[in-house]
Amino acid sequence: MKTTTILTTTCFVFSQVASYAMGIPTSGTYKRSNTTFPGTSGLDFTIDGTAGYFAGSNAYWLAFLTDNDDVDQALADAESSGLRIMRIWGFNDVNTVPTDNSVYFQLLADGKATVNTGADGLERLDYVVSSAESHNIKLIINFVNYWSDYGGMAAYVNAFGGSLTSWYTDDESQAAYQNYIKTVISRYIDSPAIFAWELANEPRCSSCNVSVIHDWVASTSAFIKSIDSTHLVAIGDEGFGLDINSDGSYPYGYSEGSNFTLNLEVDTIDFGTFHLYPSNWGTSDSFGSPWVTAHGDACAAAGKPCLFEEYGVKSDKCSVEGEWQKTAVGTKGIGADTFWQFGDTLKSSGKSPNDDYTVYYGTDDYTCLVTEHIAAI
Ligand SMILES: *[C@@H]1O[C@H](CO)[C@@H](O)[C@H](O)[C@H]1NC(C)=O
Ligand SMILES: *[C@@H]1O[C@H](CO)[C@@H](O)[C@H](O)[C@H]1NC(C)=O
Ligand SMILES: *[C@@H]1O[C@H](CO)[C@@H](O)[C@H](O)[C@H]1NC(C)=O
Repeated sequence: MKTTTILTTTCFVFSQVASYAMGIPTSGTYKRSNTTFPGTSGLDFTIDGTAGYFAGSNAYWLAFLTDNDDVDQALADAESSGLRIMRIWGFNDVNTVPTDNSVYFQLLADGKATVNTGADGLERLDYVVSSAESHNIKLIINFVNYWSDYGGMAAYVNAFGGSLTSWYTDDESQAAYQNYIKTVISRYIDSPAIFAWELANEPRCSSCNVSVIHDWVASTSAFIKSIDSTHLVAIGDEGFGLDINSDGSYPYGYSEGSNFTLNLEVDTIDFGTFHLYPSNWGTSDSFGSPWVTAHGDACAAAGKPCLFEEYGVKSDKCSVEGEWQKTAVGTKGIGADTFWQFGDTLKSSGKSPNDDYTVYYGTDDYTCLVTEHIAAI
């Protein structure tokens, strides 16, 4: 999803565990400091050691909030609703330092990358991670946007040259990107509140050979596993490029340079991700359920669970998205879903961003898509 809303509005301590010798029964599931990390077991996800189907959401803006109580309130409301996973932007790239004190995480300028670890930088993400630990919410932290919202790959291109298609193989951009990844992971490597690290939001490489994204997925996910072998790793893609159920429409095609099945074969990718926005893709709402089952089938064939990671419509949310949720819960191979997106009315900053897909806490749509959905799982 493009996220165009701009938000203007202590640090927790972790201990490095120097050494541990434990078996890794299934990907990501193992104990450190006696805490079980999220993992996968066959086609299921595991949270706190329990396998099952989990519901969550997206709140990309969470680490851009400047009021700790607002972060706590959003995560407390998510927790009390039964949501277990929250996906957030772990990136916020700029080419010039904002003059309005708004949060940013990395400055990319004059061929140089500088991570902002300060109070208006990664300390905001630190607070979200510590709050997620207190609220038993598992976070998906994404490292770069394909879209230019909050900088994205375009911010790297502005600093290092190249283009959105050469970004995936550009040495300078990739060095800065990997350094950023390493900086973020090092801060939370011991946190049980990390559900997964994610390579990018909706990576596309228009008209590229699918080997470009595949090779970048393979090298980046291997790099992440070399730093942190325990947390799960996923791509964050839209799920484009798939032959199963294909009706020949744009999302099933390979024009954005992505082959869902091929990327899922990468052994340092723990689960599949896919999104669903029929109106943005020129398809109809009824396109949705077969799209969900197609990915479930591909994931089942690969022996890895799928996360139905973003989905939304602007109207008739309860009936349209409710139908997709039922399909997801009933499809072998789909292990969790996280709708786009969670909304709340926060004490200090007011209503969280509304992009017309937002489902606000306490509304009828929320009852339908969160309360009733979770009850049905
Ligand atoms: C982990 O569990 C073991 C055995 O039950 C215990 O001795 C140890 O103190 C625990 N460590 C932590 C960090 O809680
Ligand atoms: C795509 O790249 C692969 C691997 O580099 C190569 O074997 C294949 O021929 C390429 N396909 C096209 C259509 O160029
Ligand atoms: C996509 O990847 C799958 C699995 O490797 C392969 O069988 C298929 O031919 C690929 N299709 C395209 C168009 O790249």
